[in-house]
Amino acid sequence: MQESQEIAVISAEQNDLMTRVGKGTPAGALLRRYWQPVAISDELEGPRPVRPVRLMGQDFVLFRDEAGKLGLLDRDCPHRGADLAFGRLEDGGLRCPFHGWLFSVEGKCLDMPAEPVGSKLCSRIRQASYPVVERSGIIFAYIGEGEPPAFPDFDCFVAPGTHTFAFKGLLECNWLQALEVGIDPAHASYLHRFFEDEDTSESYGKQFRGASANSDMPITRVLREFGRPEIRVEPVNHGMRLTALRKLDETHTHVRVTNLVFPQAFVIPMSAEMTISQWHVPVDDTSCYWYAIFTSFTEPVDKAQMRAQRLELYELPDYVSRQNKRNNYGFDVAEQASKTYTGMGHDINVHDQWAIESQGPIQDRTREHLGTSDKGIIAYRRMLVDAIERNQQGEGVPMVIQADQAGEYAGPPSIDGIGPSDDTDGYWRTEDRRRREASSWAADTKAA
Ligand code: FES
Ligand SMILES: [Fe+2]
Repeated sequence: MQESQEIAVISAEQNDLMTRVGKGTPAGALLRRYWQPVAISDELEGPRPVRPVRLMGQDFVLFRDEAGKLGLLDRDCPHRGADLAFGRLEDGGLRCPFHGWLFSVEGKCLDMPAEPVGSKLCSRIRQASYPVVERSGIIFAYIGEGEPPAFPDFDCFVAPGTHTFAFKGLLECNWLQALEVGIDPAHASYLHRFFEDEDTSESYGKQFRGASANSDMPITRVLREFGRPEIRVEPVNHGMRLTALRKLDETHTHVRVTNLVFPQAFVIPMSAEMTISQWHVPVDDTSCYWYAIFTSFTEPVDKAQMRAQRLELYELPDYVSRQNKRNNYGFDVAEQASKTYTGMGHDINVHDQWAIESQGPIQDRTREHLGTSDKGIIAYRRMLVDAIERNQQGEGVPMVIQADQAGEYAGPPSIDGIGPSDDTDGYWRTEDRRRREASSWAADTKAA
């Protein structure tokens, strides 16, 4: 029999089930059981650390009080609904500019200056507040019910602050298609193809631009010349491990190990030294942010350089890519003919952004035709639908973990290198171990 043509037909109902995340939706209920990135720490720098935040169609205000404590409250004032994102940071909380009601980071009402002296109303009012924590340059919030899960001992969370850097960017489409590009190892040979290899010494802080580990072959050449990877997908406790194998010759195979961390993140290699852990966080059903932590196993991260590189590409305060659908992503006919597959420049984030935004605000999956190389996407959708249903039935779902389980969720190994064709599995495990042992902070982590 011919190798299976994987055709997984998605109905309109299933597409809605997987993509819609507003309050009360089944996927929204699932995603609300996890910590979600809501800002990078940089966004609360400056004289007035107050930011509006929209997450899964709900509006909040994020702030630090005068003592530096983080709070996340519903954005509408419980008095008459004015916008607390314009509040005054003073007197131990955030004060609504309409009538002066004052709220602590826990949502406690501290003052109602217009009410008569002796009024008890203040003690009866509470603004909804949500747990927030700051990890590796990202502020995470929990807007679900009950207790939030523990954080896993992933590299991006256990690495010292000197070895991580965080950034974000807006994607004007549904979160699921943004995530799915990261579990699609074949696209890198096409979407991110460069017709010429660059000097890899200029690759610091950039993706798909260095050399693969154990070789001086630029990754751009591997991707360009070997366009039919063998893709392996394995279930692991954090979600899925994807291994993309590109056989270079009888004895050498390019091995790229990436991970899906359930429900919305992937962990991928950026270079021999760094990995990227990236979440896809719905603002609402038709826009999302990517949030990434770049983790270095070797030298401290040059945060100033990495930030400057990205600020050339993204416009604050909303972290909108300067190349976007309003300017055709910088599409250039001559460049597409001679330099890049897309004609959209050398930043692979722009390529990914074009690919997923061009699928529409919410991709109509009833019209797609999946092939064998889409097996990561097929496996993930099964996992997602299964978790949505389990959650509806009150059963356990992946990655909702207790503190004493954090150590079982380490790594995850994310490797890009060239190894022996007859032992690709042994190769990446050894490579992961070698990198950990050589690292000042990861020496005693065992992830493989
Ligand atoms: S609406 Fe906020 S204090 Fe009145
Ligand atoms: Fe990509």
